[in-house]
Amino acid sequence: MREDTAKKTTTEKTPSGDELKIEGSKIEELKIEGLKIKVYPDPVLKIPATPVERFDAKLSSFVDEMHKAMLLREGVGLAAPQVGVSKKIAIITYDGVFYVLINPRLLEREGEQEGEEGCLSFPGIYAPVKRPARVKVAAQDTGGIERVYEVEGFTARAFLHEMDHLEGKLFIEYLSTLKRGMIRKKMYKRAIGEDE
Ligand code: NI
Repeated sequence: MREDTAKKTTTEKTPSGDELKIEGSKIEELKIEGLKIKVYPDPVLKIPATPVERFDAKLSSFVDEMHKAMLLREGVGLAAPQVGVSKKIAIITYDGVFYVLINPRLLEREGEQEGEEGCLSFPGIYAPVKRPARVKVAAQDTGGIERVYEVEGFTARAFLHEMDHLEGKLFIEYLSTLKRGMIRKKMYKRAIGEDE
């Protein structure tokens, strides 16, 4: 999940010392180590993820790696399938709060909101998507403890976007056939190196 930001170019040093050139929402990666983000049409993005069963140190360090990969790309959310791991793990960071959702379940949904949505697996692409305004979600943390979250607005949008990833569902599936077709075409062109 990614939030649209104003167009301006800045260069920033990340906590690990990598240098990033940021053009609005587009980041040119000069030197990013760690997990690589899978972009559409990578088939892993369409596979429903399987539940996490082992809550061990390996899981915690994987979540740390996901967190780092998300922050380096200025994302507000990331799901494990986006780094090629088909497991029900998603993270969200918004308004100064970091959420880890393992095996999340949607308990309640209410209202409706529409807003711009982007995705780290569709770099530079944003489109308005309708979502519930408020949700109640149960998820386990890295220790396996179940927690319940009640979130609204953009946080609810981010939760739903990431939970969709765990079912192999992408935000473009909410768009009109025409718009979805245009985005698919653009992404396929990029994949074979014909775009820009
Ligand atoms: Ni996404």
